[in-house]
Amino acid sequence: MTFDLIIRNANLADDRMGVDIAVQGGRIAAVERNISTTAGRVIDAGGKLVTAPFIDIHFHMDATLSLGTPRLNRSGTLLEGIQLWGELKPLLTKEAVIARALKYCDLAVAQGLLAVRSHVDVCDDRLVGVEALLEVKDLVKDYLDLQLVAFPQDGYFRSATSAANLQRALDMGVDVVGGIPHFERTMEDGRLSVKALCEIAAERGLMVDLHCDETDDPLSRHIETLCYETQRLGLKGRVAGSHLTSMHSMDNYYASKLLPLIAEAEIHCVPNPLANIVLQGRHDTYPKRRGMMRVPELMALGVNVAFGQDSTMDPWYSFGNADMLDVAHMAVHTGHMTSRDAVKACFRAITDNPAKVFGLEGYGIAPGCNADFVLLEARDAIEAVRLRANRLAVVRRGKVIAETAPRTATLDIPGRPASVDPWRYAPVEATAL
Ligand code: FE2
Repeated sequence: MTFDLIIRNANLADDRMGVDIAVQGGRIAAVERNISTTAGRVIDAGGKLVTAPFIDIHFHMDATLSLGTPRLNRSGTLLEGIQLWGELKPLLTKEAVIARALKYCDLAVAQGLLAVRSHVDVCDDRLVGVEALLEVKDLVKDYLDLQLVAFPQDGYFRSATSAANLQRALDMGVDVVGGIPHFERTMEDGRLSVKALCEIAAERGLMVDLHCDETDDPLSRHIETLCYETQRLGLKGRVAGSHLTSMHSMDNYYASKLLPLIAEAEIHCVPNPLANIVLQGRHDTYPKRRGMMRVPELMALGVNVAFGQDSTMDPWYSFGNADMLDVAHMAVHTGHMTSRDAVKACFRAITDNPAKVFGLEGYGIAPGCNADFVLLEARDAIEAVRLRANRLAVVRRGKVIAETAPRTATLDIPGRPASVDPWRYAPVEATAL
């Protein structure tokens, strides 16, 4: 018997080292040392890391790559971003949204990012973004899993047609129920929106993913209601709280009550370190708050924390490159998560953890899983985060769909080597298979 593909001498993110990965019929057939069988194609990983694909569990694909249209965000705040998106929305065409989204998906694939949960704004009565992204979801399905969240950007109650549009979007095939309670007119409307949205999800058997408490206001506590409604409606494991940035400003006593409530309700927590490090704290003088939820504390309680990118070159964030290692790198820094275990936890927060939120089937490097993986120019997860490592090969269902040349600099310095490979200069933590 011959396999379709074998990756030889790979290190895995769980610290197994020097294993071979055999692929047959689009699935992983074996993960063992020294597989003797031949294959149609053999790739020598040379002791570098092979990981299951990166997953971005929080993104806005309807807005991506629209930077500067119709103008730039001058204040850098979330609220000007929302206003700016409101100016762009009437100008959107289905064709333009599809073109931008497909361009972004090309970039994502090159970066080994093969699953994206994207919120899609339902406050435009034409539902242009919904129509466009449903089409994109179908167009990219062979190489990227796209999951859509019906997102009432202008408020479920605050925008007159949001509630009806949200139901229309779900009828059209959008997968997940979204919301934005902190943007409603009052705290009470925010609470009622959480209740209504969770009830819709319960009735339709869907998941929930709310933009929740994305504010510097320590009294914004819709996450508490989200925990309550999740328990009341039996939605445990199906609900995500995105952003939760008010948590960084909450008083520690209250946080000591809230975090166990989140764990008890099995809420998935989704910080967005790149966007929130610049969007939050804009009204502060010094010290400036930087908008991160309490990641290490949540992880210590066993909460499933998955990082999102949120934005790439849009009204809210003018940087980004579909690079989930960049997201993990920022999380390491903002969360003081520099211990080796903490960096590995951050790597899991862009791979295994979001797979659970997404509900991806067949995810992982194990026999029977989909043959979807990424060969990185790094020897372990810590080095991958440190270097935001090059993606040497991206494999989907056993086929190499993207390749990047190794990153080697040539030097011309007398007495020094002729070339430098950045990944070569770091210690590696080894655990025997
Ligand atoms: Fe968002």
